[in-house]
Amino acid sequence: FDDTMTAKASTLDEIADEIQRSIIEDALKEFSERVVEEAINPRNVGRIESPDGEGTITGSCGDTVAIFLKVDHDRIVDIRFLTDGCGPTIASASVLTQLVKGKTIEEASRIEDQDIMQVLGELPEDHLHCPVLAVNTLKEAIEDYRRRSVED
Ligand code: FES
Repeated sequence: FDDTMTAKASTLDEIADEIQRSIIEDALKEFSERVVEEAINPRNVGRIESPDGEGTITGSCGDTVAIFLKVDHDRIVDIRFLTDGCGPTIASASVLTQLVKGKTIEEASRIEDQDIMQVLGELPEDHLHCPVLAVNTLKEAIEDYRRRSVED
């Protein structure tokens, strides 16, 4: 890197920062701070190899959420998710995994979209189905876990 290249790189970094700042500013006009924070920096993203339960649901909007569970003595010791969905869906699934980790299957099966909304704050009407999609996917993963436990 000579000086001009370093200068160019730092200009590019500045442009990237500026773009990100303006995307975040726009998002904050529509969504709560927590939604934006969880969407940018989601927890528990990924896949679990040989999970004890898994569920995948595509909502009517066309977005898909997948959830993977690792369960020990009926307690969820690890949970991961993947989605191709919108920011609120990423945020909803991220919060859901945080709520569920460490809970028993029984406790986790009682979690509702309202519990996620309580953490995230208000969502615009056209995104109310996003936490519902996350919860339904969890329920499917729990169902899968229960099915496998019966089979074993
Ligand atoms: Fe489809 Fe968020 S818009 S799940």
